[in-house]
Amino acid sequence: MNYRIEKLIDEREVSEGIKSLAESINRDYRGESIRLVCILKGGVFFMTELAKHLSSEVTMDFMSVSSYGAGTESSGVVKIIKDLDESIEGENVLVVEDIVDTGNTLSYLMDLLRDRNPKTIKLCTLLDKPSRRTRDIKADYVAFTIPDKFVVGYGLDYDQKHRNLPYIGVVEFND
Ligand code: IMP
Ligand code: MG
Repeated sequence: MNYRIEKLIDEREVSEGIKSLAESINRDYRGESIRLVCILKGGVFFMTELAKHLSSEVTMDFMSVSSYGAGTESSGVVKIIKDLDESIEGENVLVVEDIVDTGNTLSYLMDLLRDRNPKTIKLCTLLDKPSRRTRDIKADYVAFTIPDKFVVGYGLDYDQKHRNLPYIGVVEFND
């Protein structure tokens, strides 16, 4: 399919947004240690950039999940492809995601992680698409709220491509 990518949030805006998010996290955690849990693969660019601006003692772990079922919409049941390496019991967990769309993936994942008895657990997302939400889930930290468009870049993919774009762009299909 033919498509082009229109810039939505430029590189400088993205990095300013992440920096100011880090400042609110720093205020809220006040030096308490944080276990960043990155949801692969989309959360990688965001997490590494965010982590550089955090003043707490930070440790990182990674998790890879996929939605059960075919189609472009997540179903609400997620399969763990790669689980965390370390226990999160007693940790201040901050889940780092690229985007909250319907909320299916995160709603399942947050419940699953909550059952592992972290001291605290919060959700941090680069992008929020609230217009598509079907689950009652709200991120604690959101860098950018975006309209109902399919976006790529800064970790987000279309068919596994364009994750490496340093900005956020909207995929516009040519008809
Ligand atoms: P949810 O379960 O519907 O919230 O889906 C979240 C996942 O869908 C994200 O982690 C992304 O992998 C993917 N996703 C949702 N919207 C977009 C988008 O606009 N661009 C790229 N991936 C997206
Ligand atoms: Mg994802």
